[in-house]
Amino acid sequence: MGYEYIVVSTHGSVGEINLNRPDAMNALCAGLMEEVGTALTAFAADDTINAVLITGGEKAFAAGADIKDMAHLNCVEAIQDDFPFSASGWTVLKDYRKPVVAAVAGYCLGGGCELAMSCDFIVAADTARFGQPEVKLAIMPGAGGTQRMARAVGKARAMELCLTGRLMDAEEALQAGLVAYTTSAGRLHADALATAQRIAAHSSTSTQLIKESINQAFEMPLSSGLLFERRMFQTCFATEDRTEGVNAFIEKRPPAFRNR
Ligand code: CAA
Repeated sequence: MGYEYIVVSTHGSVGEINLNRPDAMNALCAGLMEEVGTALTAFAADDTINAVLITGGEKAFAAGADIKDMAHLNCVEAIQDDFPFSASGWTVLKDYRKPVVAAVAGYCLGGGCELAMSCDFIVAADTARFGQPEVKLAIMPGAGGTQRMARAVGKARAMELCLTGRLMDAEEALQAGLVAYTTSAGRLHADALATAQRIAAHSSTSTQLIKESINQAFEMPLSSGLLFERRMFQTCFATEDRTEGVNAFIEKRPPAFRNR
């Protein structure tokens, strides 16, 4: 299908969504986030896709929710529409089952940072700058920023970032635990894609159960999380891919997973 704000492509079993609204620093207008939802839903239904990569541009992954769109929004409309979750990208990503990697270069601010944090992990170029500057507009993060930033970097730095609105460079984001690894801007796409392809080469049942189990670490007390993990581990023994993976190791050959 034709998209206005994103470019969708596939690289083997990785689906890529490139945010492509360069004139507005990839600001996340409703149309863009609706298209992200549509593309994610299509990749979810595509059995040949095992992982998704979300990328932006050189200058910006995304500079936040579209401030111009918000200018005339009143409180009642925001509540009635459940803004910004009125656009399907947010809701689809929140409950997405296939692994999603965010590749970030340039500005990754406000809703853009919240979008990146909604992915399973972030790979950052050395040009990346992260922040939740909503306080400067007399608003606040509204798509998970206070919650996911606090979980990623801890209370003290999340408070300091969200209350001052200052930006954090890639090196600080790495040290703080917001990103999985950093690379050069020139290598970002190749490196993040290689990581996504490495994930996608595994059995999708296994990767989805791992993703769900790690996410439970942020929802459950330890004893419940450990039980959840053990039951998911035991579930893996029902798959054909588990038999293939173990046999391939013993027979000293690469496994041929079929997502069954
Ligand atoms: N919304 C709408 N348009 C935006 C935008 C945004 N979030 N960010 C940038 N743009 C637009 C600018 O208005 C400008 O458009 P025009 O050329 O038509 O004037 C264009 O993108 C280029 O931006 P700048 O000229 O400002 O570029 P710069 O290099 O001088 O600065 C920047 C870049 C530091 C990212 C700056 O644009 C900026 O501070 N943007 C806003 C960041 C922000 O406050 N984000 C939070 C938004 S609120 C939010 O996200 C709420 C939530 O939690 C859901």
